[in-house]
Amino acid sequence: MGKLAITGGEPLRKAPFTSWPMGTKEESAALEDVLTSGKWGGQPFPGKHADAFAKKFAAYHTTKYGQCVSTGTIAIQACLIAIGICPGDEVICPAYTWEGTVGPVLLLNAIPVFVDVDPDTYCMDARLIEKAITPKTKAILPVHLGMRFADMDEILRIADKHNLKVIEDCAHAHGGMWKGKGAGSMGDLGAFSFQSSKLITSGEGGAVITNNLEYMELVQSYINAGRASLTDQYHHRIVGFNYRIGEFQAAVLGPQLDRLPQQGEIRDKNMKQFQARLQNTPGIGLLKPEPRITRAAPYGCVIKYFAEQVKDIPRASFVAALQLEGIPCDGLFYEPVYKSSLFPVKAQDFPALSWGREKPLDLRNMYHCPEADQAAYVEAVWFPHQHFLGSSADVDAIVDGVHKVLANIEELRGLDHKSIRNQKLGRADRES
Ligand SMILES: Cc1ncc(COP(=O)(O)O)c(C=O)c1O
Repeated sequence: MGKLAITGGEPLRKAPFTSWPMGTKEESAALEDVLTSGKWGGQPFPGKHADAFAKKFAAYHTTKYGQCVSTGTIAIQACLIAIGICPGDEVICPAYTWEGTVGPVLLLNAIPVFVDVDPDTYCMDARLIEKAITPKTKAILPVHLGMRFADMDEILRIADKHNLKVIEDCAHAHGGMWKGKGAGSMGDLGAFSFQSSKLITSGEGGAVITNNLEYMELVQSYINAGRASLTDQYHHRIVGFNYRIGEFQAAVLGPQLDRLPQQGEIRDKNMKQFQARLQNTPGIGLLKPEPRITRAAPYGCVIKYFAEQVKDIPRASFVAALQLEGIPCDGLFYEPVYKSSLFPVKAQDFPALSWGREKPLDLRNMYHCPEADQAAYVEAVWFPHQHFLGSSADVDAIVDGVHKVLANIEELRGLDHKSIRNQKLGRADRES
């Protein structure tokens, strides 16, 4: 029997961390209001709760217009429609993200072009974008991933130079600000997810924000079965679908937006404590500080695990050991999208991959993104944001867990354990 819980010792932490999502009496009251109103859906458009939330949410992110939609994936899809992405167009995406960033590009029969991520941020590396631009490129789709922003200064400069549109995937960045500007307000449009794990959640849901009325009108028509938008100043008529959010979902968003600033401060303080205590810990690295982020919105707290500094014990063993100490965390949280088992692209399903080519583009095998590989398969460790909503003792427990595993890392050498085997699998392929 060893000292680590994974080798039979006592787990360091037995109490759970803050649970997520949080339902309070404010959410209950809002749900009751929907229940008794008889207006449960998003039609008549927009629903009362969806409309009130979207307006506040847009303003909180320094934009004029906001629209709730059914998921974050649909939010991205609606943004692509708004900027006029057509079959065969190319959209530059980061390699390291959730598949939902890229799926909508394919769904429109456009072509995702992957660029590697910056090891300082794990977000799209802006220095690589220009090499990926071709005459077919129409847009850049950066993701503000984890706890950082993509370099919006550079991305906007490049977009301007090459006449490209920018859609910000803000699924991880609710409330975040870059140089005083809200996440999603700097590009042409911003797309948010309200899926269960997100900083604001309706279980499933999403939103689009923008400062451009024409884009907002297109988004509204697209997600409301093609009906005229609320303002209809541009008179666009497009084929649309029912991608509305329901009022039960919209109702629980408002109270969470009210709590977001206070939660943001707690998270920020706790993550600073976490990072301060982990600084100079052999085997652990932190992402580079980014002073241009003026309001932090960390969806996850992300650190780096350097196996070579701790006797070459692989990340899967380190993460599984931490989990068994009672510290939920994850290593293989995302993969380079094109390698993921959730991205089994077949050329016959996406005709644009073949247009003008002898052989269709082989998205699964044509890219090599070493930094995305390093983050995905070797070094990134993700801690859920809600761990950082509790007390400073909670934060200490996470750090103590990391130190305990590192101090006893030899116990993991050659260890075969179900949790380690599970950690080697992508999230979609794991036993739950
Ligand atoms: C970075 C990123 N983009 C897009 C999405 C898609 O959002 P949804 O799951 O709400 O469709 C998610 C979330 O799940 C995400 O994490």
